[in-house]
Amino acid sequence: MEELLDAQHPEGGRPTPEPLDDARGEGAEDPKSHRSVPRSAAFRRFIAQGWGPRPAEDTAPSAAAPFAARRRAALSALFPGEVLVVPAGPLVRRSNDTDYRFRPHSAFAHLTGLGTDREADAVLVLHPRTPADGGDDAEGVDAAGGGHEAVLYLRPQGSRDSEEFYADARYGELWVGPRPGLAAQEAVTGVPCRDAAALADELGAWVAAPGTRGLRVVADADPAVTALVAPLRTAAAEEVAAADDELVTALSELRLVKDEWEVGELRRAVAATARGFEEVVRALPRAVGHPRGERVVEAAFDGTARVEGNGVGYETISAAGDHACTLHWIRNDGPVRAGDLLLLDAGVEADSLYTADVTRTLPVDGRFSEPQRRVYRAVLDAADAAFAVARPGVRFREVHEAAMRVIAERLAQWGVLPVDAAASLEPGGQYHRRWMAHGTSHHLGLDVHDCAQARREMYLDAELRPGMVFTIEPGLYVKAEDELAPPELRGIGVRIEDDVLVTEDGVENLSAALPREPDAVEAWMASLRG
Ligand code: GLY
Ligand code: MN
Repeated sequence: MEELLDAQHPEGGRPTPEPLDDARGEGAEDPKSHRSVPRSAAFRRFIAQGWGPRPAEDTAPSAAAPFAARRRAALSALFPGEVLVVPAGPLVRRSNDTDYRFRPHSAFAHLTGLGTDREADAVLVLHPRTPADGGDDAEGVDAAGGGHEAVLYLRPQGSRDSEEFYADARYGELWVGPRPGLAAQEAVTGVPCRDAAALADELGAWVAAPGTRGLRVVADADPAVTALVAPLRTAAAEEVAAADDELVTALSELRLVKDEWEVGELRRAVAATARGFEEVVRALPRAVGHPRGERVVEAAFDGTARVEGNGVGYETISAAGDHACTLHWIRNDGPVRAGDLLLLDAGVEADSLYTADVTRTLPVDGRFSEPQRRVYRAVLDAADAAFAVARPGVRFREVHEAAMRVIAERLAQWGVLPVDAAASLEPGGQYHRRWMAHGTSHHLGLDVHDCAQARREMYLDAELRPGMVFTIEPGLYVKAEDELAPPELRGIGVRIEDDVLVTEDGVENLSAALPREPDAVEAWMASLRG
């Protein structure tokens, strides 16, 4: 400890200890806390002094910044004259006094380009441009010279003479490290940054400014911010809620077509995910025979995700044998047995927060049995049928319909449907969905189920456009106790999921590096196991 203090004082300016305070006075510990936090004035003076400058902050402009500026401009054009409030969200309590690692709201990440754990309690505001803003660099400038200015409100770094510095386990620098200063964050994002303490007053001024037509907030992002803006809103509660919903819808739809930077991040996430799948194949011999082999698999993937990116984009589904028939099996506490299939549905979330979402169903001992191949082939044919129709101009729902035709026909061949395939495919039938209850596709991006608040006409009923990224993930799940299914198929669950980019004239399978054909899967597994 002494050496540490010396290192902090190259000039040898070691602070002089002061006399202790009376333990019954201001130096007493908080009787309600079990943390031993020294609070004496002498200690506070002592810990506040003798520090050199903090290490230089990262001020390199983020590669995402120009793209984020364009997204803000597109949002601005949709809501002329309105104040738009997009919080990053607060820290979320995991239990008692410990929090989850922070992840910003995806709309905030999209509009600022900030990823990883940046920046709890921050709030992005787009306010209508006023004459005082001057200049011609407003976002979303319309023909009348309108548009918005963006401001990012941040909790500034607590000073070293504050109690926060050493005693606040949520925000204190000694506990969680330094926060970027306002100037540094401004340099990184290209957005003017201000102290969060000014948020309420400045919002009030913008709402009251002549020409402002109202305020909208992403209401579920941060309850404290939603409460803070409530007094600034005069409309009836239903109108306020509807206005906020429109903002959320617009933010979701703004993400339907990815820009070039986002596609790059998705490629990065998919590549890291492929490496995670390789680690899982290498870990399979360890998983077999372990009482919680599914956890061995999960740990192999999640370890890669954490090392290569921000973590997993959703809880890893590591499902062996009959567990594969539970669509979101995330308990992952079962064994992995030779002869069974392992369904692994997992995605690495890059530091930018863009996530992959890939599923492969692997024979645990490296070879598919004949019944496993039969189910696998049906699912692969359904996926290929979906790929075959996917291109610009085709409606999103048609991708699903192409996969469902194959699924229904195959189930009809197996004699498990009460009607023929055509009748099952009718809206009033849908019997085949007993064996595939989920959809074939969802958009993918900052959220694994991206753009989920988009209107139906912009999502399911919309035509595919270049730059959209979505999954193709048909499956068949025959539960062990399924008395309608041929006995040899019971306990087999298969899903094959790829991440797909719509190009100018077709689609690109972003996850094609992971084999899908059963022979190729076997050869790939054999090559990794040596
Ligand atoms: N991969 C999980 C899901 O799409 O729901
Ligand atoms: Mn998925």
